[in-house]
Amino acid sequence: MSTPNKRPRPVVIGVTGGSGSGKTTVSHAIFDQLQGHSLLMLEEDSYYRDQSEKPMAERVKTNYDHPDAFDTDLMIEQIKQLLEWKNVEIPVYDYTEHTRSDKTVLVEPKEVIIVEGILVLNDPRLRDLMDIKVFVDTDDDIRIIRRIQRDLEERGRSLQSVIDQYQSTVKPMYHQFIEPTKRYADLIVPEGGSNQVAIDLLVTKIRDIISD
Ligand code: C5P
Repeated sequence: MSTPNKRPRPVVIGVTGGSGSGKTTVSHAIFDQLQGHSLLMLEEDSYYRDQSEKPMAERVKTNYDHPDAFDTDLMIEQIKQLLEWKNVEIPVYDYTEHTRSDKTVLVEPKEVIIVEGILVLNDPRLRDLMDIKVFVDTDDDIRIIRRIQRDLEERGRSLQSVIDQYQSTVKPMYHQFIEPTKRYADLIVPEGGSNQVAIDLLVTKIRDIISD
């Protein structure tokens, strides 16, 4: 006879904020203080839609800050699998090619799962899967500076393309879709990863949920 799976459901924390807000830094800071527990970071960016059928000229014009750019159904399905302690094959995104690569990564479920991305609080189905929802709130000027640095160094972009994209889609979509999700957050974290008080509060709450 098979033994029923008695493991408690993993804890899911949603971490959102605009591009360059410091979501990843906050997520890493939480993980650093949760040593001893098994941890997984799931990035919404992995779920950008496949555009391999489209020519490059069309891919660069896509609005990557609109909810339709993401395959949110797949993300929800895979989180549900992880919550049942099942492995999933996560897509791998290529920012230089603006599409999914042909690789996937095998991901195993963990005790604590951070779901991180610009629109993770936008879809009510995603929010319903989260135990804690966090919005990282960082001034626009800091975010654009970070974005310029990152996109030039890591994503193969020119300064002009970053500026054009910021004005045409990144900024308007932030105000239309991302900033309004602040209302769903349990915690709004100003100054992202350097806000030690907020990180400590989050870690205490996560430990509380795990030990329940
Ligand atoms: O890591 P971050 O939250 O900044 O990632 C989201 C950003 O990535 C979005 O603001 C989007 O404009 C950008 N992006 C891009 N090109 C792609 C896919 C996403 O510039 N091909």
